[in-house]
Amino acid sequence: MPFPLERPRRLRATPALRGLVAERHLDPQQLVLPVFVKEGLDAPRPVASLPGVVQHSLASVVDAASEAVEAGVGGIMLFGVPAVRDARGSAADDEDGVLNVALRAVADAVGDRTVVMADLCLDEFTDHGHCGVLVQDGPRAGEVDNDATLERYTATALAQAAAGAGLLGLSGMMDGQVGAVRRALDDAGRQDVVLLAYAAKYASAFYGPFRDAVESTLVGDRRTYQQDPANRREALREVRLDVAEGADVVMVKPALPYLDVLSDVAASVDVPVWAYQVSGELAMVEAAAANGWVDRERTILETLTSIHRAGAGAVLTYWAVEAARWLRRG
Ligand code: PBG
Repeated sequence: MPFPLERPRRLRATPALRGLVAERHLDPQQLVLPVFVKEGLDAPRPVASLPGVVQHSLASVVDAASEAVEAGVGGIMLFGVPAVRDARGSAADDEDGVLNVALRAVADAVGDRTVVMADLCLDEFTDHGHCGVLVQDGPRAGEVDNDATLERYTATALAQAAAGAGLLGLSGMMDGQVGAVRRALDDAGRQDVVLLAYAAKYASAFYGPFRDAVESTLVGDRRTYQQDPANRREALREVRLDVAEGADVVMVKPALPYLDVLSDVAASVDVPVWAYQVSGELAMVEAAAANGWVDRERTILETLTSIHRAGAGAVLTYWAVEAARWLRRG
């Protein structure tokens, strides 16, 4: 008998063979670029904890959207940084609020050449930094008020849809948010607007740099609405509820520390499953690369491939445009 009997290395011998037998090929269309737009800026401003990421002005976000379209990315997700915040997050559903103004400008500029998406949450717009409104009086004063928040989300959804968002990303983790928003859109004749549910969203330390990017000063933490990192099966419950309420796409967030959850979710539903490679995931790799401890491009592509392999159809990543160019270059 010849030995070894099997030689898996045979299929790894050349780039051509490796390409032919690769189980996954990342495609630029499966990358979505998150962008920040800050009210009152006249030039883009770097975010210190997110190397390579900026807060955009209204003019520069339109350029960034066009650049993303040129690079072939599948979508662009907008986040707003308002000049003024209040307890109810009034700027979220104000048609002159920064996010809605930016959505209008970007949708006008890129049309149907990519999918224009809006983050549907209140944390960027509230002065306390929570994803919902707070109970005002009584023994529960200061707690996030689930059902009152749903009313704020439905109003915001209608404003974002009117501004030109084709997909709304529900990232607030309130119970019933998908159903409430779906019903409000349908009642307004907006059956066309796609709902992306951040179904399994964990209370994660990896969101740290994002809070810098949106200048959020959170009072307390989000553990009463975002999931406990210890829980895996609970993600399937959240996903099941969101799909039943009408989610068109479900997402797992963060990505890399939650590949087990992503894999479980992908196996359990028949809607598309996406993942969000969050700010702290970028910061970690950039810091290591800046020290020369890892090869930046290879590490970034490896993380994206791993997230894709675990079950994500598309990935939201701040590296979307750069990665799309690398993938096209081959
Ligand atoms: C909520 C929202 C957050 C992120 C995306 N949407 C912050 C949070 O939940 O605390 C984080 C994304 C990132 O860290 O890149 N609007």
